[in-house]
Amino acid sequence: MPLTMLQPTLTRLPTRSLAAAFPTAIRVRNPNRLAWLSSCMASMATRNFTTTASTTFRGSLYGEVGDGRRVATALSPCAKSQVIEDNARGISAIAQRLPSKSETKTQHRFREFELDDRVFIVTGGARGLGLTLAEALVEAGGHVYCVDRLAEPAKEFYETKDRVGQFGGSIHYRQVDVQDAAGLDEAVGAIAAGHQRLDGLIAAAGVQFVSPALDYPPEKITEMMNINFKGVYLSAVSCCRHMVKYDCVGSIVLVGSMSAFIANKGLRTSVYNSSKAAVVQLGRSLAMEWSNVVNGKAIRVNVLCPGNIMTPMVRKNFEDEPHLKALWESENLLGRLSQPEEYRGAALFMLSDASSFMTGSSLVIDGGYTAW
Ligand SMILES: NC(=O)c1ccc[n+]([C@@H]2O[C@H](COP(=O)([O-])OP(=O)(O)OC[C@H]3O[C@@H](n4cnc5c(N)ncnc54)[C@H](O)[C@@H]3O)[C@@H](O)[C@H]2O)c1
Repeated sequence: MPLTMLQPTLTRLPTRSLAAAFPTAIRVRNPNRLAWLSSCMASMATRNFTTTASTTFRGSLYGEVGDGRRVATALSPCAKSQVIEDNARGISAIAQRLPSKSETKTQHRFREFELDDRVFIVTGGARGLGLTLAEALVEAGGHVYCVDRLAEPAKEFYETKDRVGQFGGSIHYRQVDVQDAAGLDEAVGAIAAGHQRLDGLIAAAGVQFVSPALDYPPEKITEMMNINFKGVYLSAVSCCRHMVKYDCVGSIVLVGSMSAFIANKGLRTSVYNSSKAAVVQLGRSLAMEWSNVVNGKAIRVNVLCPGNIMTPMVRKNFEDEPHLKALWESENLLGRLSQPEEYRGAALFMLSDASSFMTGSSLVIDGGYTAW
Protein backbone atom coordinates (compact mmCIF):
# COMPACT_ATOMS: atom_id res chain seq x y z
CA MET A 1 0.00 0.00 0.00
CA PRO A 2 1.49 3.36 -0.93
CA LEU A 3 2.04 5.91 1.81
CA THR A 4 -0.59 8.16 0.37
CA MET A 5 -3.21 5.56 1.21
CA LEU A 6 -2.37 5.20 4.89
CA GLN A 7 -5.38 4.70 7.02
CA PRO A 8 -6.24 7.97 8.75
CA THR A 9 -7.81 6.26 11.76
CA LEU A 10 -4.67 4.39 12.58
CA THR A 11 -2.50 7.47 12.46
CA ARG A 12 -4.59 8.94 15.25
CA LEU A 13 -4.07 6.00 17.57
CA PRO A 14 -1.51 6.41 20.37
CA THR A 15 1.77 4.55 19.99
CA ARG A 16 0.80 2.09 22.72
CA SER A 17 -2.32 0.96 20.89
CA LEU A 18 -0.49 0.66 17.60
CA ALA A 19 2.24 -1.39 19.22
CA ALA A 20 -0.36 -3.71 20.70
CA ALA A 21 -2.14 -4.02 17.36
CA PHE A 22 1.05 -4.63 15.41
CA PRO A 23 3.55 -6.13 17.85
CA THR A 24 6.15 -6.98 15.24
CA ALA A 25 6.43 -3.46 13.85
CA ILE A 26 9.94 -2.12 13.63
CA ARG A 27 10.73 1.42 14.71
CA VAL A 28 12.57 3.65 12.31
CA ARG A 29 15.00 5.93 13.99
CA ASN A 30 16.45 7.45 10.85
CA PRO A 31 13.84 9.69 9.20
CA ASN A 32 15.64 9.36 5.86
CA ARG A 33 14.66 5.71 5.80
CA LEU A 34 11.00 6.64 5.64
CA ALA A 35 11.53 7.12 1.94
CA TRP A 36 11.72 3.35 1.66
CA LEU A 37 8.26 2.77 3.07
CA SER A 38 6.45 2.89 -0.23
CA SER A 39 8.83 0.53 -1.93
CA CYS A 40 8.59 -1.95 0.95
CA MET A 41 4.86 -2.04 0.75
CA ALA A 42 4.95 -2.16 -3.04
CA SER A 43 7.35 -5.06 -2.80
CA MET A 44 4.95 -6.94 -0.56
CA ALA A 45 2.16 -6.26 -3.01
CA THR A 46 4.14 -7.71 -5.91
CA ARG A 47 4.73 -10.84 -3.89
CA ASN A 48 1.01 -11.40 -3.54
CA PHE A 49 0.64 -10.05 -0.03
CA THR A 50 -2.49 -7.99 0.20
CA THR A 51 -1.90 -5.14 2.60
CA THR A 52 -5.01 -4.45 4.61
CA ALA A 53 -3.69 -1.80 6.92
CA SER A 54 -0.55 0.18 7.35
CA THR A 55 0.48 3.43 8.86
CA THR A 56 3.41 5.40 10.15
CA PHE A 57 3.47 6.98 13.54
CA ARG A 58 6.43 8.74 15.10
CA GLY A 59 8.83 7.09 12.72
CA SER A 60 7.48 3.55 12.94
CA LEU A 61 5.78 1.53 10.28
CA TYR A 62 2.89 -0.67 11.30
CA GLY A 63 1.47 -3.10 8.79
CA GLU A 64 -0.62 -6.18 8.38
CA VAL A 65 -0.96 -8.56 5.47
CA GLY A 66 -4.21 -9.76 4.04
CA ASP A 67 -4.26 -13.29 5.38
CA GLY A 68 -4.17 -12.04 8.94
CA ARG A 69 -0.51 -12.69 9.66
CA ARG A 70 1.21 -9.72 11.16
CA VAL A 71 4.47 -8.67 9.70
CA ALA A 72 7.36 -6.53 10.62
CA THR A 73 8.72 -4.42 7.82
CA ALA A 74 12.28 -3.25 8.11
CA LEU A 75 12.70 -0.01 6.29
CA SER A 76 15.90 -0.52 4.38
CA PRO A 77 15.85 -1.94 0.85
CA CYS A 78 17.05 -5.17 2.42
CA ALA A 79 13.48 -5.50 3.64
CA LYS A 80 12.53 -7.46 0.56
CA SER A 81 14.59 -10.40 1.59
CA GLN A 82 14.42 -10.28 5.35
CA VAL A 83 11.21 -8.70 6.36
CA ILE A 84 8.56 -11.15 6.72
CA GLU A 85 8.23 -13.15 9.85
CA ASP A 86 5.08 -14.76 11.02
CA ASN A 87 4.52 -13.41 14.48
CA ALA A 88 2.38 -16.24 15.68
CA ARG A 89 3.85 -19.30 14.00
CA GLY A 90 7.41 -18.34 13.24
CA ILE A 91 7.26 -19.08 9.52
CA SER A 92 10.70 -18.48 8.08
CA ALA A 93 11.62 -15.94 5.45
CA ILE A 94 12.27 -18.79 3.04
CA ALA A 95 8.85 -20.33 3.55
CA GLN A 96 7.39 -16.95 2.79
CA ARG A 97 9.30 -16.70 -0.44
CA LEU A 98 8.12 -20.05 -1.71
CA PRO A 99 5.41 -20.00 -4.37
CA SER A 100 1.82 -20.38 -3.35
CA LYS A 101 0.03 -23.43 -4.69
CA SER A 102 -1.94 -21.30 -7.10
CA GLU A 103 1.19 -20.06 -8.87
CA THR A 104 2.38 -21.98 -11.88
CA LYS A 105 5.34 -24.23 -11.27
CA THR A 106 7.42 -22.95 -14.12
CA GLN A 107 7.34 -19.30 -13.08
CA HIS A 108 8.48 -19.69 -9.51
CA ARG A 109 10.67 -22.72 -9.13
CA PHE A 110 13.30 -22.45 -6.40
CA ARG A 111 12.62 -18.81 -5.59
CA GLU A 112 14.90 -19.09 -2.56
CA PHE A 113 17.81 -18.91 -5.02
CA GLU A 114 16.70 -15.57 -6.49
CA LEU A 115 19.03 -12.65 -5.90
CA ASP A 116 16.92 -9.92 -7.51
CA ASP A 117 18.06 -6.43 -6.50
CA ARG A 118 20.63 -7.70 -4.01
CA VAL A 119 24.13 -6.22 -3.98
CA PHE A 120 27.34 -8.27 -3.84
CA ILE A 121 31.06 -7.70 -3.77
CA VAL A 122 33.46 -10.27 -5.23
CA THR A 123 37.13 -9.74 -4.47
CA GLY A 124 39.53 -11.28 -6.97
CA GLY A 125 36.73 -10.74 -9.49
CA ALA A 126 38.91 -9.66 -12.42
CA ARG A 127 39.37 -13.22 -13.67
CA GLY A 128 39.39 -16.90 -12.73
CA LEU A 129 37.05 -18.31 -10.11
CA GLY A 130 36.02 -14.91 -8.72
CA LEU A 131 34.81 -13.62 -12.09
CA THR A 132 32.93 -16.83 -12.89
CA LEU A 133 31.11 -16.70 -9.55
CA ALA A 134 30.38 -12.99 -10.05
CA GLU A 135 28.74 -13.82 -13.39
CA ALA A 136 26.56 -16.43 -11.69
CA LEU A 137 25.30 -13.87 -9.17
CA VAL A 138 24.45 -11.47 -12.00
CA GLU A 139 22.49 -14.20 -13.77
CA ALA A 140 20.47 -14.71 -10.59
CA GLY A 141 19.55 -11.00 -10.65
CA GLY A 142 22.22 -9.50 -8.39
CA HIS A 143 24.15 -6.27 -8.76
CA VAL A 144 27.75 -7.40 -8.52
CA TYR A 145 30.93 -5.40 -7.95
CA CYS A 146 34.14 -7.17 -8.93
CA VAL A 147 37.02 -5.82 -6.88
CA ASP A 148 40.60 -6.66 -7.85
CA ARG A 149 44.06 -5.15 -7.90
CA LEU A 150 44.37 -5.56 -11.68
CA ALA A 151 43.82 -2.39 -13.71
CA GLU A 152 41.38 -4.17 -16.04
CA PRO A 153 39.29 -7.34 -15.70
CA ALA A 154 39.45 -10.23 -18.18
CA LYS A 155 37.41 -10.11 -21.40
CA GLU A 156 34.72 -12.40 -19.93
CA PHE A 157 33.80 -9.52 -17.62
CA TYR A 158 32.86 -7.35 -20.61
CA GLU A 159 30.98 -10.23 -22.26
CA THR A 160 28.86 -10.59 -19.14
CA LYS A 161 28.33 -6.84 -19.01
CA ASP A 162 26.96 -6.97 -22.56
CA ARG A 163 24.48 -9.69 -21.61
CA VAL A 164 23.19 -8.39 -18.27
CA GLY A 165 19.99 -7.02 -19.80
CA GLN A 166 18.82 -10.63 -20.03
CA PHE A 167 19.10 -11.14 -16.29
CA GLY A 168 18.07 -7.91 -14.61
CA GLY A 169 21.29 -7.67 -12.60
CA SER A 170 24.42 -5.65 -13.31
CA ILE A 171 28.19 -6.08 -13.12
CA HIS A 172 30.78 -3.43 -12.26
CA TYR A 173 34.52 -3.22 -11.71
CA ARG A 174 36.59 -1.44 -9.05
CA GLN A 175 40.38 -1.55 -8.83
CA VAL A 176 41.28 -2.12 -5.18
CA ASP A 177 44.07 -3.99 -3.41
CA VAL A 178 42.53 -6.01 -0.57
CA GLN A 179 45.63 -5.38 1.56
CA ASP A 180 44.77 -1.68 1.68
CA ALA A 181 42.33 -1.49 4.59
CA ALA A 182 41.36 2.16 4.08
CA GLY A 183 41.01 1.94 0.30
CA LEU A 184 39.00 -1.27 0.55
CA ASP A 185 36.67 0.14 3.19
CA GLU A 186 36.14 3.29 1.12
CA ALA A 187 35.23 1.22 -1.95
CA VAL A 188 32.88 -1.06 0.00
CA GLY A 189 31.28 1.97 1.68
CA ALA A 190 30.67 3.72 -1.64
CA ILE A 191 29.12 0.59 -3.20
CA ALA A 192 26.83 0.05 -0.21
CA ALA A 193 25.87 3.73 -0.03
CA GLY A 194 25.03 3.76 -3.74
CA HIS A 195 22.40 1.05 -3.22
CA GLN A 196 21.65 1.66 0.48
CA ARG A 197 22.34 -2.01 1.02
CA LEU A 198 24.94 -4.77 0.84
CA ASP A 199 23.87 -8.40 0.76
CA GLY A 200 26.92 -10.51 0.23
CA LEU A 201 30.63 -10.98 -0.29
CA ILE A 202 32.72 -13.58 -2.04
CA ALA A 203 36.30 -13.13 -0.86
CA ALA A 204 38.17 -14.85 -3.70
CA ALA A 205 41.27 -12.66 -4.04
CA GLY A 206 44.26 -14.87 -3.47
CA VAL A 207 47.77 -15.69 -4.64
CA GLN A 208 49.98 -18.72 -4.65
CA PHE A 209 53.75 -19.00 -4.40
CA VAL A 210 55.50 -22.28 -4.96
CA SER A 211 58.75 -22.94 -3.13
CA PRO A 212 60.27 -25.69 -0.99
CA ALA A 213 59.88 -24.72 2.67
CA LEU A 214 63.66 -24.88 3.15
CA ASP A 215 64.12 -22.11 0.55
CA TYR A 216 60.99 -20.05 1.25
CA PRO A 217 61.90 -16.32 1.25
CA PRO A 218 60.68 -14.85 4.57
CA GLU A 219 59.21 -11.76 2.89
CA LYS A 220 57.09 -14.04 0.69
CA ILE A 221 55.50 -15.56 3.80
CA THR A 222 54.30 -12.11 4.84
CA GLU A 223 53.09 -11.25 1.34
CA MET A 224 51.12 -14.48 1.06
CA MET A 225 49.47 -14.08 4.46
CA ASN A 226 48.75 -10.40 3.81
CA ILE A 227 46.70 -11.23 0.73
CA ASN A 228 45.28 -14.70 1.44
CA PHE A 229 44.47 -14.15 5.11
CA LYS A 230 44.58 -10.45 6.02
CA GLY A 231 42.92 -9.43 2.72
CA VAL A 232 40.08 -11.89 3.31
CA TYR A 233 39.78 -10.71 6.91
CA LEU A 234 39.63 -7.03 5.93
CA SER A 235 37.11 -7.72 3.15
CA ALA A 236 34.80 -9.62 5.50
CA VAL A 237 35.02 -7.02 8.26
CA SER A 238 34.40 -4.08 5.93
CA CYS A 239 31.39 -5.81 4.33
CA CYS A 240 29.98 -6.82 7.72
CA ARG A 241 30.27 -3.22 8.93
CA HIS A 242 28.23 -1.95 6.01
CA MET A 243 25.69 -4.79 6.17
CA VAL A 244 25.04 -3.79 9.77
CA LYS A 245 24.82 -0.13 8.80
CA TYR A 246 22.08 -0.87 6.25
CA ASP A 247 20.27 -3.56 8.29
CA CYS A 248 21.14 -6.31 5.83
CA VAL A 249 21.29 -9.91 6.99
CA GLY A 250 23.96 -10.73 4.44
CA SER A 251 25.92 -13.81 3.58
CA ILE A 252 29.71 -13.96 3.36
CA VAL A 253 31.62 -16.63 1.49
CA LEU A 254 35.33 -16.88 2.07
CA VAL A 255 37.21 -18.80 -0.59
CA GLY A 256 39.42 -21.35 1.10
CA SER A 257 40.68 -24.49 -0.59
CA MET A 258 40.89 -28.23 -0.12
CA SER A 259 44.53 -27.31 0.58
CA ALA A 260 43.31 -26.15 4.01
CA PHE A 261 42.91 -29.83 4.90
CA ILE A 262 45.53 -31.67 2.86
CA ALA A 263 48.88 -31.09 1.16
CA ASN A 264 48.42 -31.21 -2.63
CA LYS A 265 50.58 -34.03 -3.91
CA GLY A 266 53.77 -32.76 -5.51
CA LEU A 267 53.06 -29.04 -4.95
CA ARG A 268 55.35 -27.29 -2.49
CA THR A 269 53.05 -24.60 -1.18
CA SER A 270 53.36 -24.80 2.60
CA VAL A 271 52.45 -21.15 3.21
CA TYR A 272 49.53 -21.15 0.74
CA ASN A 273 48.09 -24.25 2.38
CA SER A 274 48.49 -22.71 5.82
CA SER A 275 46.84 -19.48 4.69
CA LYS A 276 43.81 -21.47 3.50
CA ALA A 277 43.63 -23.34 6.81
CA ALA A 278 43.58 -19.91 8.48
CA VAL A 279 40.67 -18.87 6.24
CA VAL A 280 38.68 -21.96 7.28
CA GLN A 281 39.20 -21.10 10.93
CA LEU A 282 38.38 -17.45 10.24
CA GLY A 283 35.05 -18.54 8.77
CA ARG A 284 34.06 -20.33 11.97
CA SER A 285 35.20 -17.47 14.18
CA LEU A 286 33.38 -14.74 12.25
CA ALA A 287 30.25 -16.90 12.02
CA MET A 288 30.24 -17.11 15.80
CA GLU A 289 30.85 -13.38 16.29
CA TRP A 290 28.26 -12.27 13.76
CA SER A 291 25.47 -14.74 14.52
CA ASN A 292 23.22 -11.96 15.85
CA VAL A 293 24.99 -8.81 14.70
CA VAL A 294 22.15 -7.27 12.64
CA ASN A 295 19.45 -6.39 15.16
CA GLY A 296 19.66 -9.88 16.58
CA LYS A 297 19.95 -11.60 13.20
CA ALA A 298 22.96 -13.23 11.62
CA ILE A 299 25.39 -12.37 8.95
CA ARG A 300 26.20 -15.89 7.83
CA VAL A 301 29.83 -16.75 7.14
CA ASN A 302 30.88 -19.90 5.30
CA VAL A 303 33.97 -21.11 3.47
CA LEU A 304 34.00 -22.57 -0.03
CA CYS A 305 36.85 -25.05 -0.40
CA PRO A 306 37.47 -25.97 -4.05
CA GLY A 307 39.73 -28.68 -5.38
CA ASN A 308 41.92 -28.12 -8.45
CA ILE A 309 40.36 -25.67 -10.91
CA MET A 310 41.59 -24.74 -14.35
CA THR A 311 42.21 -21.01 -13.77
CA PRO A 312 45.20 -18.76 -14.57
CA MET A 313 46.64 -19.70 -11.16
CA VAL A 314 46.70 -23.42 -11.95
CA ARG A 315 47.73 -22.96 -15.59
CA LYS A 316 50.86 -21.28 -14.20
CA ASN A 317 51.49 -24.36 -12.01
CA PHE A 318 51.32 -26.58 -15.11
CA GLU A 319 53.62 -24.28 -17.11
CA ASP A 320 56.21 -24.49 -14.34
CA GLU A 321 55.74 -28.20 -13.57
CA PRO A 322 53.91 -29.98 -16.45
CA HIS A 323 53.87 -33.39 -14.70
CA LEU A 324 51.44 -32.02 -12.08
CA LYS A 325 48.41 -32.13 -14.40
CA ALA A 326 48.34 -35.90 -14.83
CA LEU A 327 49.22 -36.40 -11.17
CA TRP A 328 46.36 -34.24 -9.90
CA GLU A 329 43.88 -35.70 -12.39
CA SER A 330 44.65 -39.15 -11.09
CA GLU A 331 44.41 -38.05 -7.45
CA ASN A 332 40.67 -37.45 -7.27
CA LEU A 333 37.76 -39.85 -7.64
CA LEU A 334 36.46 -38.22 -10.82
CA GLY A 335 39.84 -38.44 -12.58
CA ARG A 336 39.91 -34.85 -13.86
CA LEU A 337 40.38 -31.21 -12.86
CA SER A 338 37.39 -28.91 -12.41
CA GLN A 339 36.26 -25.84 -14.34
CA PRO A 340 35.35 -22.59 -12.53
CA GLU A 341 31.73 -22.99 -13.71
CA GLU A 342 31.38 -26.09 -11.53
CA TYR A 343 31.27 -23.82 -8.44
CA ARG A 344 28.49 -21.54 -9.66
CA GLY A 345 25.75 -23.53 -7.99
CA ALA A 346 27.63 -23.62 -4.70
CA ALA A 347 28.15 -19.85 -4.72
CA LEU A 348 24.50 -19.19 -5.50
CA PHE A 349 23.44 -21.60 -2.77
CA MET A 350 25.77 -20.08 -0.18
CA LEU A 351 24.82 -16.46 -0.96
CA SER A 352 21.07 -16.92 -1.32
CA ASP A 353 18.28 -17.74 1.10
CA ALA A 354 18.65 -21.37 -0.02
CA SER A 355 21.41 -21.77 2.59
CA SER A 356 19.62 -19.88 5.38
CA PHE A 357 20.55 -22.47 8.05
CA MET A 358 24.20 -22.66 7.03
CA THR A 359 26.88 -20.73 8.89
CA GLY A 360 30.35 -21.55 10.19
CA SER A 361 30.64 -24.36 7.62
CA SER A 362 33.22 -25.34 5.06
CA LEU A 363 31.89 -26.72 1.80
CA VAL A 364 34.52 -28.94 0.16
CA ILE A 365 34.03 -29.51 -3.58
CA ASP A 366 37.04 -31.39 -4.84
CA GLY A 367 35.98 -34.30 -7.06
CA GLY A 368 36.76 -36.57 -4.14
CA TYR A 369 40.43 -35.55 -3.77
CA THR A 370 40.15 -35.52 0.03
CA ALA A 371 37.83 -38.52 0.24
CA TRP A 372 40.47 -41.24 0.06
N1 LIG B 1 42.55 -22.55 -8.98
C1 LIG B 1 42.47 -23.48 -8.04
O1 LIG B 1 42.73 -24.64 -8.27
C2 LIG B 1 42.00 -23.09 -6.68
C3 LIG B 1 41.70 -24.12 -5.79
C4 LIG B 1 41.25 -23.79 -4.53
C5 LIG B 1 41.12 -22.48 -4.16
N2 LIG B 1 41.43 -21.50 -5.05
C6 LIG B 1 41.28 -20.13 -4.59
O2 LIG B 1 40.32 -19.47 -5.40
C7 LIG B 1 40.61 -18.08 -5.41
C8 LIG B 1 40.67 -17.62 -6.85
O3 LIG B 1 41.77 -18.26 -7.46
P1 LIG B 1 41.95 -18.44 -9.02
O4 LIG B 1 42.39 -19.82 -9.26
O5 LIG B 1 40.78 -17.91 -9.74
O6 LIG B 1 43.23 -17.52 -9.21
P2 LIG B 1 43.49 -16.31 -10.20
O7 LIG B 1 44.93 -15.97 -10.02
O8 LIG B 1 43.02 -16.64 -11.56
O9 LIG B 1 42.56 -15.15 -9.59
C9 LIG B 1 42.88 -14.52 -8.39
C10 LIG B 1 42.50 -13.06 -8.50
O10 LIG B 1 42.81 -12.43 -7.26
C11 LIG B 1 43.37 -11.17 -7.56
N3 LIG B 1 44.20 -10.68 -6.47
C12 LIG B 1 45.36 -11.20 -6.02
N4 LIG B 1 45.87 -10.44 -5.05
C13 LIG B 1 45.01 -9.42 -4.86
C14 LIG B 1 44.98 -8.30 -4.01
N5 LIG B 1 45.97 -8.07 -3.13
N6 LIG B 1 43.93 -7.45 -4.07
C15 LIG B 1 42.93 -7.65 -4.96
N7 LIG B 1 42.92 -8.68 -5.81
C16 LIG B 1 43.94 -9.56 -5.77
C17 LIG B 1 44.20 -11.42 -8.81
O11 LIG B 1 44.51 -10.22 -9.47
C18 LIG B 1 43.28 -12.34 -9.59
O12 LIG B 1 42.42 -11.62 -10.44
C19 LIG B 1 41.91 -17.90 -4.66
O13 LIG B 1 41.64 -17.52 -3.34
C20 LIG B 1 42.51 -19.28 -4.69
O14 LIG B 1 43.40 -19.51 -3.63
C21 LIG B 1 41.86 -21.77 -6.29
